[in-house]
Amino acid sequence: MNELKEIVIGFLGCGNVGGGVWRLLENMREEIARRDGLSIRVKKVLVRSVKKVRDCGIPQGLLTDNPDDVLADPEITMVAEFMGGEHPAADYLIRALENGKTVVTANKVALALNWPKLQAAAEKTGAGLYYEASVCGAIPVIGALRGSLESNRISNVMGIINGTTNYILTRMSEQGEDYAAVLADAQRLGLAEPDPTSDVEGFDAAYKLSIMASLAFHTRVPFEKVFHEGITGITAIDIACGREMGYVLKLLAIGKRSGDVVEVRVHPTFLPKDHPLSMVGGSFNAVYLKGHACKEMMLQGRGAGDLPTASAVVGDILEAALTDKHRMPTFSNTEETDSALTFTDNWTTRYFIRLSAVDEPGVLASVAGCFADAGVSIATMMQKGRSDDGRVPLIFITHPAEEKAMQAALRKLDPAICHPENVIRVEE
Ligand code: HSE
Repeated sequence: MNELKEIVIGFLGCGNVGGGVWRLLENMREEIARRDGLSIRVKKVLVRSVKKVRDCGIPQGLLTDNPDDVLADPEITMVAEFMGGEHPAADYLIRALENGKTVVTANKVALALNWPKLQAAAEKTGAGLYYEASVCGAIPVIGALRGSLESNRISNVMGIINGTTNYILTRMSEQGEDYAAVLADAQRLGLAEPDPTSDVEGFDAAYKLSIMASLAFHTRVPFEKVFHEGITGITAIDIACGREMGYVLKLLAIGKRSGDVVEVRVHPTFLPKDHPLSMVGGSFNAVYLKGHACKEMMLQGRGAGDLPTASAVVGDILEAALTDKHRMPTFSNTEETDSALTFTDNWTTRYFIRLSAVDEPGVLASVAGCFADAGVSIATMMQKGRSDDGRVPLIFITHPAEEKAMQAALRKLDPAICHPENVIRVEE
């Protein structure tokens, strides 16, 4: 065998994902040597506690609590980061790049919020910046967008890109359980964080959408431009009513580009039950997209977990190690967005509206009148049986309408006769 090329790596962080990367590198050592001619040596691992024994088997002697042992060691040419959160991770990554070290990161927050700075630091020294693991774990969506799909004008990228919320919504759908009960169970099973805010309020998906849409649309889509609404207001009743009308509920990340207008939004969404994304249940992730050449396609897989995420990290490590010239995104990655583009929050979609109304003559006509006055056209309507308090649930699906028109229609409703229990956007 020819002599192996040695790559000396430092880890920043060693939790679940870092442990998975260590185990996968050990597990694949011989294959990596045979197939790629590489020997990957982890020299130092930055951790909070050097005393804590790690399940993954990292030798205690590699652990350090001094970031300089990784960032300032000239022998370390590549840094793999699994700390999560914006700071200090982003500062460490910028230092690593400025010191000429290639960075492989799983950190969507640090990347989404600091991408221009990270890229500038990488360009200054010619180091590489790799982030496949930051979006959808093992699913190679970043590689696909940067690589084989680059020749497309992508008009639509739509994904289930948060496994925790997909698990919760799937259980609520299949078993009719309430949000709070399923969340508590998911936390007990380790499928939801003790503080679930980032997942259930849509932040996690919004960071990922900002990264994915930037690559898909060849223009930087800052996190601040991504509208996000979580799943905490969803009830089992909404899901059951939607199902009766032929829909499945998902927390969707949606990016659309039409000419120079871009919309990026994360919110609970009803999809027709035969849409490819409707079949993606449990904690799985999937990204569905449309390009002018590739047409419709979907990538599906595991978006989290130690080994699935490690699969993407190690893939990046190998790609970076075998590359002479690192590839950067195709767009101008600056703080300022492209001035020719408009980010709109007045998108057009269908709406599911569940109202609680008094059951009297003229109520339906009044509601329909409010919609008509705002220019919103009703496509389907369902009335359920009267409840003990004499009120009835009225459920509407609209034709495509502008968001602002829909909000105006809701403001026109007379609170003396009805009030909205929930409004959920519907995609096709
Ligand atoms: N918490 C995320 C999810 C995984 O539930 O999909 C990490 O981004």
